[in-house]
Parts: sequence; structure tokens; C-alpha cells
Amino acid sequence: MDTKKLDIEAITLLQQAPETEPERQYFFMEELKKWYQAQVERLKRPLTFSVQTFGCQMNAKDSEKLAGILKTVGYEEVEGENADFVLYNTCTVRENANTRVYGRIGYLGNLKKKNPEMKIAMCGCMMQEAHVVEKIKKSYRFVDLIFGTHNIYKLAELLYLRIHGPKMVIDILESTEQIVEELPSERKFQFKEGVNIMYGCNNFCSYCIVPYVRGRERSRRPEDIIEEMQKLAAAGVTEIMLLGQNVNSYGKTLAQPVSFAELLKMAEKVEGIRRIRFMTPHPKDLSDEVIEVMKHSEKICHHVHLPMQSGSSRVLKVMNRKYTKESYLALVERIKEAMPDVALTTDIIVGFPGETEEDFEDTLDVVRKARFSSAYTFLYSKRTGTPAASMPDQVPDEVAKERFNRLLAVVQEISAELAEADTGKVVEVLVEERNAQDASLMTGRMANNLLVHFPGDEELLGQYVKVSLNECKGFYYIGERVK
Ligand code: 5AD
Ligand code: SF4
Repeated sequence: MDTKKLDIEAITLLQQAPETEPERQYFFMEELKKWYQAQVERLKRPLTFSVQTFGCQMNAKDSEKLAGILKTVGYEEVEGENADFVLYNTCTVRENANTRVYGRIGYLGNLKKKNPEMKIAMCGCMMQEAHVVEKIKKSYRFVDLIFGTHNIYKLAELLYLRIHGPKMVIDILESTEQIVEELPSERKFQFKEGVNIMYGCNNFCSYCIVPYVRGRERSRRPEDIIEEMQKLAAAGVTEIMLLGQNVNSYGKTLAQPVSFAELLKMAEKVEGIRRIRFMTPHPKDLSDEVIEVMKHSEKICHHVHLPMQSGSSRVLKVMNRKYTKESYLALVERIKEAMPDVALTTDIIVGFPGETEEDFEDTLDVVRKARFSSAYTFLYSKRTGTPAASMPDQVPDEVAKERFNRLLAVVQEISAELAEADTGKVVEVLVEERNAQDASLMTGRMANNLLVHFPGDEELLGQYVKVSLNECKGFYYIGERVK
């Protein structure tokens, strides 16, 4: 880390900071509070911040941690980039996520010229790639802070260093064994929340950059996870999403190993929690025990997001997914047999290197057989440093796009058929928000993860209500409340 130009007082304070975490960060938050007050007096206005999140739920959760730290310091949160501190929590899973970020850093530079108080932080997955950091250092000198995925918790310390030291503070850890929790977090929803159960991924699917930017698997201790759930329940949260890159691997590396199925059973017992979800299981090791626990659970939603990536056993092998078309379909059958009302969703990549028309037909075949209630479909994106990036026979863009469109048509047709079949039913939903397009409608989420919009007001937020699914709109419904 570049700490060369620190002032003397700041150095003295740095030496006084506790060495252990999270105490160290609370120390810096206290120091920043004093600094913050001085700024408010000088400027005669509060300072504002905004976190722009790209990518997955893990990033969304990290952003809540960033916001929690800044709110503790005193900053006020605003939407959009017109703020005194703008943080970009980036994603690099596909190239277009990177392109979007570069496109916007330039715009931030213009805003900074107009607001001398403005600070800019770039963090998250993209920053774990050396070429990205080099590019920012070279082409975007106005960025104040650069940090990665392993030290999100250090925001207070890094901001402190930036204020007292160099113009650009860069702190990237290659990897970590550490898990730092117990820091403030600013929850987006009062009634539902994600809880990290593990970090990192050891699978090294050949197309995927995640293991390189999020590091090796580390599980939190079950008692810490349950305690966090209890605290959230006490604060009014009723729906929990257990988060991990590969939740089935949960607990394997703990001093006292615990399986994901065992963790689910413990989570089920937390009073006040009504719904439990999890994201993401890997098809290669979603155990029968987990299916059994889900089947008998009162709280675990019957929704399984089961990324298939490809339906071709040949492609799956090259992807290093460690299952075949047949074993994936067999797993789908076991899940459906145990839970006939289950909603299955998936991720599919089109145009992986060497994918032939025949391979693609296999993907369509699995989609038709598994009947997903929805699927995220992606064009293969070459990620530098992954094995797939240097594989021969990269599929031409036009071919991949043409397959993508065919896949989408099949996926959408099946989604609509499944949704249509539930039209007229009465379901329980958790009311999540006011509809952005039509303010007379509220939006509720069903256990199967689908949304229904229905007339209602904000009093209903966070409540579980019964709604009839009057009209199917493809992948969502228009409904009305029933008593
Ligand atoms: N190209 C396209 N899609 C990808 N994903 C991961 N890496 C890539 C890539 N290089 C998709 C996978 C994964 C989801 C989160 O992103 O489908 O499940
Ligand atoms: Fe990437 Fe595969 Fe790990 Fe998922 S399981 S994060 S696709 S390497």
C-alpha cells in the first residue's frame, strides 16, 4: 500500500490503531467521525455518498457493508453519482460488465471537476485483476481509492489513509484466509436480507474468473451464521437468503466440518424467520440430504437455482463442471419427485469454445425436459486468464447470437406455459416494494421467486399477504389481495 505521504499526526494515530479486526475498523470509523464533523462545519452541509453495485448478490451484500460503514461515519446516502463519495463495486464475470464500468469512470471524472469535495472509490471483483488496476492508475488518475474483494471491510481505514496521505490509495490482497464480520451494514430491505455463509470458490469452471477474483473457499462458523440470523430476525427480518458461490461445499473446511444440509436444519430453527432461500448450489454436489431437508421444511422455499451452463456432456466436461447431461436431468427428476411444486431456475452459457450445433441441441433438449420456470442466458464471454480463453474454436459472434435467440425463445415459451398454469391460484407473497411503473400497485414475491403486482399501499410492505394470480404476463402476474 502506498502510504508514503502520511502526515505525522496521522502516523501516530495509525500506530495506536488496534491490530485485531473488526476493532481496528471501529477505531478508524471514530477518527473519521471527527473528520466528518469538521467537514460539515466547513461546508455547512452534510456530505453524501452513493454506492453503485454491479453483478451478483454477493456484491449487493458487500455494498450494504460499504454503506453501513459510511453511514456510521456520518455520510448521507443518495441515489446517482452526484455525491461527495462515489463507490463502484464492480463485477468482472463477463466482459460487458467491465466495459460498462470504464464507460462510467470517465463521466465520474467530469463530475469531480465540478465538485472539489468528491472522492471516488473503485472496488470489488474487477480490481482483483492487475491489468484493470494498471489501467485505472494510468488513465484515470482522479480515482481516490482502489481496493478488491478481500478487504471490503477496510473501507474506513483506507478512507482515513486517503484523507491524510497520498492522492490514490491502492490496497489489493491476492488472497485471504480471514473472514471479518460484525461491521455495520446498511440493509436495503428491512424485512429480507442475504447472509454470507461462505466466500470464494474452488471449482475452477474453465470459463469462469470468480475463483481468481474471489479466492479459495472459506466458510463461516455455523454459530456465527445462526447468530446473525437471530439478530436479523430480532430486527424484523423474516426472509433470509443464504449466500455462497457454491453453497453445497459449505462447511467442508471448518475445524469441525458441518454439511450444508445440517446448516439448513439449524437455520430452520431460528424463530421469526419465515422464509429461507439459498444461492447458489452446484449441480455436481447438491446432495439428496439437502433435497430431503427442503422437502420436509416449513421455511425453505421450494425454489432451486441450479446453474446448468450447457446441456452437452462433451461441453460440460471441457467446462470442468463434473456432471453430465444425464446426471443433471436425473438430479432434476429427484428434486421434482421430492417437491412437485418446486420452481427450477438456471444459468446457461451459449457459444462456449468448440460448441457445435449438436452440443447446442443438447442444451435445448435439457431446457425442454427440465422445464425451468426461468433461465438466465449468457453469451460466452472470454475472460483473460481462464483456461477457456485460450481454447481453440472460439464460436463466431453471429453463430452464438443466433443460438442465443433460439434458446431464449424456448426458455420464454416454457416460462410462460408454467406461469400460465398457475393463473387463478391464490398464493402467499411477501410484499417487497411499490411498483416503479404504477404507484397504485405493490409488488409481492412468491415462494417460487415469481412476482405479482396488485393494488395496495405501503402499509403492506414487509407483510405476508394472500393474493390471487388473476392475469399472467409471461413471467409475472397481475393480481389482487384476498382476505
Ligand atoms: N461467460 C459467460 N457467462 C459466464 N458466467 C460465468 N462466467 C461466464 C463467462 N465467462 C455465467 C455463468 C454463471 C453466472 C453467474 O455467470 O452462467 O452461472
Ligand atoms: Fe464460477 Fe464455477 Fe465457481 Fe460458479 S462454481 S463461481 S461458475 S467457477
